[in-house]
Amino acid sequence: MTEPWWQTGVVYQIYPRSFADADGDGVGDLPGIAAHLDYVAGLGVDAIWLSPIYRSPMADFGYDISDYRDVDPLFGTIDDLETLVRAAHDRGLKVILDLVPNHTSDEHAWFAESRASRDNPKRDWYIWRDAGPAGAEPNNWPSFFGGSAWELDETTGQYYLHLFHRKQPDLNWHTPEVRAAVYDVMRFWLDRGIDGFRIDVLWLLAKDQTFADSPPVPPREHELDVARLEHPGFEDREETHDIVREMRALVDEYDHRVLIGEIYLPYERLVRYYGERLDGVHLPFNFGLVTASRFDAPTVRRLVEEYESFLPEGAWPNWVLGNHDISRIATRTAEGGARLAQMLLLTLRGTPTCYYGDELGLADGEIPPDRVVDPQAATGRNRDPARTPMPWEPSPTAGFSPDGVEPWLPVAAGHKQRNVQAQAADPRSELSLFRALTALRRGRRALQLGSLRLLGGTAPDDVLAYVREGEGEGEHVLVALHFGAEPRTADLSAASARPADLLLSTELDREGEVDLAALELRPREGVVISVR
Ligand code: NOJ
Repeated sequence: MTEPWWQTGVVYQIYPRSFADADGDGVGDLPGIAAHLDYVAGLGVDAIWLSPIYRSPMADFGYDISDYRDVDPLFGTIDDLETLVRAAHDRGLKVILDLVPNHTSDEHAWFAESRASRDNPKRDWYIWRDAGPAGAEPNNWPSFFGGSAWELDETTGQYYLHLFHRKQPDLNWHTPEVRAAVYDVMRFWLDRGIDGFRIDVLWLLAKDQTFADSPPVPPREHELDVARLEHPGFEDREETHDIVREMRALVDEYDHRVLIGEIYLPYERLVRYYGERLDGVHLPFNFGLVTASRFDAPTVRRLVEEYESFLPEGAWPNWVLGNHDISRIATRTAEGGARLAQMLLLTLRGTPTCYYGDELGLADGEIPPDRVVDPQAATGRNRDPARTPMPWEPSPTAGFSPDGVEPWLPVAAGHKQRNVQAQAADPRSELSLFRALTALRRGRRALQLGSLRLLGGTAPDDVLAYVREGEGEGEHVLVALHFGAEPRTADLSAASARPADLLLSTELDREGEVDLAALELRPREGVVISVR
């Protein structure tokens, strides 16, 4: 039996605005992505996930959709998308689209109808409530973008709910017609050969129909510590699991498709999205590495242990290192940490999802105040720095836009050195490391599908070591990641007493036989070792 592609494969997230601008308007587009597909395939990844490319007023850069069945002219045409999908498939790459079912744009035709009058047939497609006492908002639910989640609409004198921007009214998933309409959208794209969906804010779909206030919450210990349940009225409600099952049943009518859920919850609750009978999403995104407040050996060890312990029987794991909503891994870690993190991601057990630019060790960009565009910036958590243009070459526009065109966000500093062209020519670059890691993974079933055993015992505290084991002979790989800033000699003889060969170092400068009882590791060096 061969395993599904989404288990053995690597997913690469492209933020379309920021990948490549083919038409010279400063914003990335589908033809730009198509022009760089050989680069993507050459990374050794297996699927691309595109953040939303649908028609949108761009209040939240595409997560506010006014037509789910069309491509926004900024990104191109539906023909461009079909061309891209064909070209990706020709190269063995799957294409995953973003599905945004929690909300539409306020400029979607459904909302225009819904807001027109209280007795409009689509009134219940969105969430309308009367004002609370003295004209106040109906309850205390906050928007993720700051302020109340309720907006008063003058036309009918009622409030509508928007968990994000006020231009992103929440759909009412308790209305059967809404479900049917979104399921039609899913079929529309699946029929066109799309290989699956990453589902936006999946854990927020159902809402408490009593609309009770959220209870008070203790303050966060750390700003990245977001994986917890604060709003029982709209987070992780039981009814959401019914919706997930319906989506899965729909996707199962097609061959080889995947559902990935964006879910920020503690592991115990996250894993329920696999479904009681594994009839939920295939991959509920595991954001442990994204939300952890520290990136060190004890933290990562705890995450791996906890995650593995909560995984239900038969559920396939996955790991994410970055995305368009959080600071980049190179910025979240100390010098050298990005290489280590990449080795971690690509050797852990489970499907890895990589964020464009991270393969170059790209750090957050500096955004001058007059260039800030993210609607969430008002909350103090500006996402623009993680969305800067892909640096292809050393030119002033980094090869992202044609010369002389100002990209929508400034190119991150340091692109003259850190760009695809320079790193492709450098056998020791982050890009070379990324390619070596995917090649290693592809060539070894132990890395793709094998078990994972954390090594304890004699390994120093700042070294995280684990063994990946396949079923066949010779399928035995040891990974040792040194998070510390001082050189270390690690005793990893607990892994095996047999001879061992170093296959890959994060520094890309050594190979050959090593002594597991006294393994020399440089500061923030990671190694992959084959145990014979
Ligand atoms: C999660 C997306 O990743 C984020 O970019 C967006 O702002 C919100 N959902 C709302 O759609």
